[in-house]
Amino acid sequence: MKIEAFAPGKVILFGEHSVVHKKPAIAVAINRGVNIELTSRTDNTVQINVPLINYSSQSKLVNKKLIYELDDQNKMITDYIYEVINLFEFEKGFNLTVDIKMYLGAGLGSSAAVTVSCMKALSILAGKEMDKNTIAHEARNIEIKIQGAASPIDTSMSTYGGIIYINEEFELERINFDMDLPLVISNCELTGNTGKLVESVRQKYVKYPQVVGNIFNAMQEVAKGAKNALEEGNSELIGDYMNLNQGLLDSIGVNTQELSDMVYMARKFGAKGSKLTGSGGGGCIIAYCPDNIEEIYSQLNNKYPTFKCEQSDEGVTARIIEK
Ligand code: MEV
Repeated sequence: MKIEAFAPGKVILFGEHSVVHKKPAIAVAINRGVNIELTSRTDNTVQINVPLINYSSQSKLVNKKLIYELDDQNKMITDYIYEVINLFEFEKGFNLTVDIKMYLGAGLGSSAAVTVSCMKALSILAGKEMDKNTIAHEARNIEIKIQGAASPIDTSMSTYGGIIYINEEFELERINFDMDLPLVISNCELTGNTGKLVESVRQKYVKYPQVVGNIFNAMQEVAKGAKNALEEGNSELIGDYMNLNQGLLDSIGVNTQELSDMVYMARKFGAKGSKLTGSGGGGCIIAYCPDNIEEIYSQLNNKYPTFKCEQSDEGVTARIIEK
């Protein structure tokens, strides 16, 4: 049997950091993520390949479960894969290639996309195909087990796709959206420490409660306005709200020189809006490029690792290539 699967990554369009303080946020699943190729074997060997991190390992199934050794160096990604494998029982081994087509540890939800795509493919091979609700639930449990805490955003985006509005009660609402969302994503290749950045924002809030409280309120208005703009398909407003959000994120100290450079380059070459995405302090920017995307992409790509993408409406998918 041969199975292919795909699960999208995600970006936060609006509301990072303010979401931690009970303000709304908007996230979008992107059509870049993790591709899986899974082929059954006739022996009891399990071969795992993760080309992006040059990882390759062979282990054995004993009593239908995988006996494995964790690789400390590649822990981030391989932990998720092994956790998913041992949700199931397998009569025979398999070859599993996990092809990660985006940046790791850059706020794009790579661990969720790995977990969700593996879960879909392996559930089919094990004869226990999981539906999306089960995948979202189980994938979140794995993220909590490995990371200690996890919001449902990344695993939900990878599973269901689309654009979601995370409201003040932290409920996820799908946004009805009927236009293309051409994005350019650039990575400054420095990694921000999410925990430390969230804590630094909290300390600023304690020190300047009025000022930072009002910045959070402004971020809330940005997210609400952006939700309407997305529903109406108003590209001018979407871009303006991204630029406003970037200024507000800068004011709470999570922007950096490199992120600013990418943000302004994108605008200079025609992006309607551009901002950092995720925790900041490094990582990625997103640029909304309904016009001139090739030029914006190539200019940024000359200086920073960059890719183009659009929203992924479908979420996780799988195909049986050979029975
Ligand atoms: C990190 O991707 C987004 C933050 O808002 C933190 C969080 O929501 O957990 C900075």
